[in-house]
Amino acid sequence: MFLVTGATGQIGKRIVRFLREDEQPTRAFVRLDSNYRDLEQRGAEIFIGDLTLEKDIAKACEGVRYVISAHGSGGKAQALDYRANIELIDHAKAQGVEHFVFISVLGAQRGYEDSPTFKAKREVEKYLQSSGLNYTILQPAGLASNLLPLAERFRDTGFYLIIGDPQNRTSIVSSDDVAKIAIKAATTEEAKNKTFPVGGPEILKREEIPEIFGRVFNREPLTVTVPLFLLDTVREGIGFFDPQTQKSLGTLRTLSANEFFCTEAEVNQVETTFNMKMESLESFTTRYLGT
Ligand SMILES: NC(=O)c1ccc[n+]([C@@H]2O[C@H](COP(=O)([O-])OP(=O)(O)OC[C@H]3O[C@@H](n4cnc5c(N)ncnc54)[C@H](OP(=O)(O)O)[C@@H]3O)[C@@H](O)[C@H]2O)c1
Repeated sequence: MFLVTGATGQIGKRIVRFLREDEQPTRAFVRLDSNYRDLEQRGAEIFIGDLTLEKDIAKACEGVRYVISAHGSGGKAQALDYRANIELIDHAKAQGVEHFVFISVLGAQRGYEDSPTFKAKREVEKYLQSSGLNYTILQPAGLASNLLPLAERFRDTGFYLIIGDPQNRTSIVSSDDVAKIAIKAATTEEAKNKTFPVGGPEILKREEIPEIFGRVFNREPLTVTVPLFLLDTVREGIGFFDPQTQKSLGTLRTLSANEFFCTEAEVNQVETTFNMKMESLESFTTRYLGT
């Protein structure tokens, strides 16, 4: 039995879909108010719970062979990116789980002070590495599925917004590829107790993304760049009446201000270990939105 947290999320729903296509017994950890009908129809066992409640985590881990932690936090880094993962690891260990796959983030080890999510990922990575469990840590770059709403807006208007330096490099990765790798990692001997940066096959400057959309939708890009100081000014203003939101914007600031890309050697390592070819952003966008 696979336990998948974040089963309704971008990566999680794809993991459940691929597991069920392969008829693997799958427990999908979902919240009652989320939309999980599709997972149910695909034959996943639906576990209703809340990852902020340890008793739900303990129950969800019962009888499980593999855990794939793929949940997000919606700004609650302490409770979800950190605490929920620590408890998942503890209960997985107590239940004798064979392998734990953790979806971290590219650059987690850089210790960005401004992003509670990055800090939580780094602490969870360390905890998992010393837990005694068999594990694989995946550190994805930005997900291509994040860009689908922007691509749709581009298709309709030609408009594309970049926050920060347009020359910054990124390795946008297919969300389907990340899901496939997470599943393979659970049973691939060469992936045992290893950490993999996971990026798409090409290093892109951010300004190249609207050019790719331009090719997919056959229209001229109209790119607007917002300098970082404007984000900082807005953030500062928000801080006066909503310090919590100001803090959670730290992750957006971190993502906008820095480069997140994988080297050719890192891409090769993933392709060799998991025996697959990484998909480009152009192919992903065409597959989902092309005519
Ligand atoms: N998006 C990216 O570009 C990116 C890049 C690198 C790494 N990652 C990492 O990859 C992982 C998955 O990201 P994603 O973008 O696929 O996530 P996502 O689409 O934002 O989905 C988040 C998932 O977490 C679930 N969740 C949130 N709070 C919960 C709670 N209290 N109890 C139970 N479930 C809860 C959500 O359930 P509901 O449906 O109920 O809200 C949803 O299924 C995250 O750890 C993220 O940090 C993401």
